[in-house]
Amino acid sequence: GAPDRAAAPDRAGGGVTAGAHHRPGGPTRLQTPRPGGPGLGDSYYPDYGNSGYDVEHYDIRLSYDPATDRLSGTTTILARATQDLSRFNLDFLLDVSSVRVNGWTATHTRAGDHELVITPARAVGKDQRMTVVVTYSGIPSTVKYHGYTAWTRTADGAEAVNEPEIAWWWYPSNDHPRDKATFDVSVAVPNGVEVISNGVQPRPPVAGPAGLTRWSWRSVKPQAPYLTYLVIGQYDIVTDTSPDGQPVINAYSARLGDLEGAARASVERTSEIVDWESTLFGPYPFEARGGVAGAPDGVRFALEAQTRPVYGAGFWRRGANTYVIAHENAHQWFGDSVSVADWRNIWLNEGFASYAEWLWSDEQGEGTAQQVFDYTYANYPADDPFWQVLPGDPGADDLFDDAVYDRGAMTLHQLRLAVGDDAFFRILRRWTASRQYGNGTIEQFEALAERISGRDLTALFTTWLFTRGRPDLTGAAARTL
Ligand code: ARG
Ligand code: ZN
Repeated sequence: GAPDRAAAPDRAGGGVTAGAHHRPGGPTRLQTPRPGGPGLGDSYYPDYGNSGYDVEHYDIRLSYDPATDRLSGTTTILARATQDLSRFNLDFLLDVSSVRVNGWTATHTRAGDHELVITPARAVGKDQRMTVVVTYSGIPSTVKYHGYTAWTRTADGAEAVNEPEIAWWWYPSNDHPRDKATFDVSVAVPNGVEVISNGVQPRPPVAGPAGLTRWSWRSVKPQAPYLTYLVIGQYDIVTDTSPDGQPVINAYSARLGDLEGAARASVERTSEIVDWESTLFGPYPFEARGGVAGAPDGVRFALEAQTRPVYGAGFWRRGANTYVIAHENAHQWFGDSVSVADWRNIWLNEGFASYAEWLWSDEQGEGTAQQVFDYTYANYPADDPFWQVLPGDPGADDLFDDAVYDRGAMTLHQLRLAVGDDAFFRILRRWTASRQYGNGTIEQFEALAERISGRDLTALFTTWLFTRGRPDLTGAAARTL
């Protein structure tokens, strides 16, 4: 842990707002200031996130040089203490040069493998706001956590895209989906380089000194840290407006080569697919739409970055792929707006986004959901290790195992068969409406499904999510739509 000594108060630097945020009299009035915790007790990642405070807004202001992969700048965190706080942690890996809390220089040390421990000069009272300014730099592609870096450097830039951890390589955060916040992200890059992030552009890119152009992006709805991303490089940015007036911003790596047509034929259908999904899942929860077709040497997966997913180039190898568009955008409801309360609940993300693909197949006339169920079930023989991974509790090593996706979607199809279409889609819409911008657990989803359907669904959930082995298709489960 960090030493508990306070730094000498240092009011230099100007622009401080500390006074307004402090309880009169400062820390001596606080009953029992104590350190916040270094984690939130997540089942799989107990030390991800931190306790003792809740973030309301991140203002991330950086400079990045693609030639050297050097990233530097400042993140300002607006947070509220949830206890009398003598010390707190942020999750972060880059080199920190200074930290201020409410304008006062704070001491900072390292703990564990990704913790930055901050001791403010004055303790912060419960419910009081705090402004934390962290100044830092680093070469993220060289910074390792358990031997790997989630930051992907490409030939012309970088992609800060990963799940469940990516923030640590580019901004300090309370890195758990239980602590969502709004974001301003701004990055200065050499003139001629593009920067894409979440949400909308509050102002166009501004050419400034030193041959740099500063790009600004803003997310105005609560956003989990892992869903906040950066894509930097040579991009064609295509801007449009959806029929209901939302900004649609898509971006294409300039290096897609012969994949470019398939990428555009897929990502350009985002707004249409979001409109279709809105008819099933409820109103689209965010302020913008779009997608980023990443560089061929970028990430190899896709991520449901809030408002604007990022797609690895491999998704276009077999031609246009609207299934991945349906999948990542279904996550806007299931994962991004309603987020897991604990990473053990990953089925609430991947099972639902995968089932959206089955619904899209039906919509496209390429196979009904029942036909996709039958095909998928038959695709995994009873002795396949696939059936040994529990979608309801896969373990951190199997967070993205096929079972979470495919058996996860099978589970939702079984639920639909059991309760009928009308109740099934009411359950989905009630889930997204009642937990919008919040979190949920599998147990809460099951309780909602039972309440709306009036059925005891214990056996169904236990069999499909929490029991090893291939479930038999008997009785109601064998019925077809
Ligand atoms: N949530 C992503 C999806 O849409 C998967 C992310 C996988 N992450 C990774 N680091 N491979 O399915
Ligand atoms: Zn997914």
